[in-house]
Amino acid sequence: MSILLKCYFRDELSFRYLQTKKIQYLATMRGVKTLSEFIIEKQDDFKYATGELTRLLNDIVIATKIVNREVNKAGLANILGATENENIQGETQQKLDVFADQQFISALKNGGEACGIASEENDDFVAFDSEFSRNGKYVVTFDPLDGSSNIDVNVSIGTIFSIYRRKSEVGQLATEADFLQKGEKQVAAGYVVYGSSTMLVYTTGNGVNGFTLDPSIGEFCLSHPNVKVPEDGKIYSINEGNMVYCDQQVKDYIAYCKEEDAATNRPYSARYIASMVADIHRNLIKGGIFLYPATSKAPHGKLRLLYESNPMAFILEQAGGIATTGDTRILEIEPTELHQRVPTILGSKNMVKKYLSL
Ligand code: AHG
Ligand code: MN
Ligand code: MN
Repeated sequence: MSILLKCYFRDELSFRYLQTKKIQYLATMRGVKTLSEFIIEKQDDFKYATGELTRLLNDIVIATKIVNREVNKAGLANILGATENENIQGETQQKLDVFADQQFISALKNGGEACGIASEENDDFVAFDSEFSRNGKYVVTFDPLDGSSNIDVNVSIGTIFSIYRRKSEVGQLATEADFLQKGEKQVAAGYVVYGSSTMLVYTTGNGVNGFTLDPSIGEFCLSHPNVKVPEDGKIYSINEGNMVYCDQQVKDYIAYCKEEDAATNRPYSARYIASMVADIHRNLIKGGIFLYPATSKAPHGKLRLLYESNPMAFILEQAGGIATTGDTRILEIEPTELHQRVPTILGSKNMVKKYLSL
């Protein structure tokens, strides 16, 4: 059918239009809503609705599909393993970290809605300097590949992104101040989990929705509308190997999780994948708490505020959960550095409240 259509519609745009319509038709036949349809439908909920955020989200979606394709054939495509480089945090970059980073940069640069990006894999922010991009109203921060230690062993990994309106003047180059904004200022945030299926979960501040990639039509389809994290859960997720370096509050809380008490469903279950996207996704759906606290070895914890903790905190709060450093609501932190780390504790409301009460 595609070949016939291509012969008939020589013009590429008409052909693409028909392909999109065909995909939407297939999705409608199956009774599902595609992410593209959903984003357009929700455009008017957004106070600055002009279509630019919609286009920006679509650019991100395209990059995630390309990354998904490579993740799925990683063992065949000579894309497993490490590069010879380290990022600014002294972590060895994996080939997929670099590949994913390039895909996001290229999709956002060519899309023209973002004037710059900051990511885990770049020491400094990148200001896009074409005239087209200088007029972009947004900046994007992202962790292109989360859970890098799991890439080579076929365990779930992810991508995290966060979108802000720029503070600098439209038409100029992006500045660092555009990126150093409180998490409260996010206009959208999301993650993709490359797991047993690939899912994209995002919020624009009007609740959280989840979409599963249907590989047969290459579209994310709405599978988890209006996600709410259960108020209670029975899963705790922490790297317990670090317990010796943790403070007394963390030790007491983990001891509490392991105590026997039928009335409060304890002992809880321990689940820790070491890909925060996958750990938090599971806890979001099932109820649970995720902790990467400060330790004596890592006094600010490990997770990065701008492209790990803030986007996940925004999603968790929008789903009815809590996200805190232990002292402060994560979304209220005034960032001072692009790669700043913060202790991160988030999840089901009552579980996080219990942690804070200790
Ligand atoms: P990244 O792969 O982007 O560097 O992030 C890894 C992070 C996070 O996904 C995970 O929760 C944490 O590192 C695991 O760290 P530990 O191995 O110290 O538990
Ligand atoms: Mn990460
Ligand atoms: Mn990463």
